[in-house]
Amino acid sequence: MSPTTRNLKAFVFDAYGTLFDVSSIRERCDHFFPGMGAQIAEMWRVKQLEYSWLGSLMARYRNFWEITEAALRFACRALKLALTDEIRSDLMQNYHHLNLYPEVTKALAALSERFPLAILSNGTLDMLQQATRNSHIDKYFKDIYSVEDLAIFKPAPRVYHMAVDALDLPAKEIGFVSSNAWDAAGAKSFGLHVFWINRFQRPEEELGFPPDHTIQTLDEIVGLMK
Ligand code: LAC
Repeated sequence: MSPTTRNLKAFVFDAYGTLFDVSSIRERCDHFFPGMGAQIAEMWRVKQLEYSWLGSLMARYRNFWEITEAALRFACRALKLALTDEIRSDLMQNYHHLNLYPEVTKALAALSERFPLAILSNGTLDMLQQATRNSHIDKYFKDIYSVEDLAIFKPAPRVYHMAVDALDLPAKEIGFVSSNAWDAAGAKSFGLHVFWINRFQRPEEELGFPPDHTIQTLDEIVGLMK
């Protein structure tokens, strides 16, 4: 353990893209729109994030469920696919049954034996509760912090502050784990101790706040904390 990791007292995780593989939705998209699954899933995710940032800047918060649905409608319109109410509702339900990345359960089990764990996510509490329950990882978390009450999305500093308030710890004693490079930068700018899970060998953001650790999978944290 390095001197800085020795100070960590709790771990907080981003949800979508970090624990849950949102691209796992592409199979269901493919079922309705053969051959288009990967493209839909990709555009759906990109738009969902854009809408979270745009809504925050416009001071027009709509919760994550609503913007996820709006992003799906946009993606299908852009790709000229007819999204019926039935298909939309079916695809949205998949957000409650997302696949976990393969190493997630084991890493959470090991870390939760030594640290309090929580989720800090743009998702609504209902979305996060359902997805964690259905993937059987709810038992590892002491709490779930949703941006819902703040009515703004990451990377607004207020969002990361929720973890400091709820855990009653200084920011530098909280390990924040995200695969989303922009989220890692936002958390580092706020002052958390950041682990960026660079699953797909992406370049680091040029936002000026590099993570404390860049690793490829969640279970590497277990090794770093030994
Ligand atoms: C979340 C988004 C950033 O879970 O994936 O907050």
